[in-house]
Amino acid sequence: MSTAFLPAPTPVRTATPRRYLMCPPTSFAVTYTGNPWMDPSTPVDRDLALHQWQVLRDTYRALGHRVATIDPVADLPDMVFAANGGFVRDGRAVAARFRNPQRAAEADAYAAWYAAAGYATVAAEAPFEGEGDLLVVGDVVLAGHGFRTDPRAHRQVAEVTGAEIVSLELVDPRYYHLDVALCPLGDTIAYLPAAFADAARAELEGRYPDAIEVTEEDAAWLALNALCDGLHVVLPVQAETFAAQVAAAGFQPVPVDVSEFRKSGGGVKCMTAELH
Ligand code: ARG
Repeated sequence: MSTAFLPAPTPVRTATPRRYLMCPPTSFAVTYTGNPWMDPSTPVDRDLALHQWQVLRDTYRALGHRVATIDPVADLPDMVFAANGGFVRDGRAVAARFRNPQRAAEADAYAAWYAAAGYATVAAEAPFEGEGDLLVVGDVVLAGHGFRTDPRAHRQVAEVTGAEIVSLELVDPRYYHLDVALCPLGDTIAYLPAAFADAARAELEGRYPDAIEVTEEDAAWLALNALCDGLHVVLPVQAETFAAQVAAAGFQPVPVDVSEFRKSGGGVKCMTAELH
């Protein structure tokens, strides 16, 4: 029988155990406007934030992943966003250098954690916000610039880790980090094309012909700030269309509510550093 006219089968997805680093949100607050989501006049419910963070951590553990935690430092309101602390690969870490002064002191705290955990750790020589702007897809590392991370840091990470870096320019201030504009899903991605400069969009179209394009509505729920382990996609519960899209591509959506953190422009992925 000819199969020429059958639709391509949905790929079989498999989870692999991951190691994550998270920071409890005991100092979490929105005290300045570091991105368009942040409005210091909108109060944060810290008890609810802590509850949402604990559910996220417990969700990872229930999925079979290991979660380490770093001690929060008092008066660092964004330290909960552990993904920004640096980038780790094959025993080496490049620690962050934050663009906004309100986050500067986080860099030393994360660098100390990486060093104590046994990573050969160097400080970034240019503005660099870690996994917020660096995402691993298969053999390459996609790297955002335009708002926070400087392209010089992309080059430093390539030198230090030996990774192949693909630099992508971000253009929408609401999607100021790569991890709110794009989400790795196994060997493909989901993304918001409008968040990228023309050349970056062309690069992504060429590399990932089966990429999922999210709706503007889901992107604004920070749907792309999701985390995939090869099978499960932990994503914000409000992003229902995105959940249906990943399910149609063979993944299992795992919805969580991280609404308090959206008030700071953050979500699932920002709160989770992956120790590659
Ligand atoms: N308020 C934080 C900032 O503007 C949010 C960081 C979110 N992290 C992320 N990886 N997108 O720096």
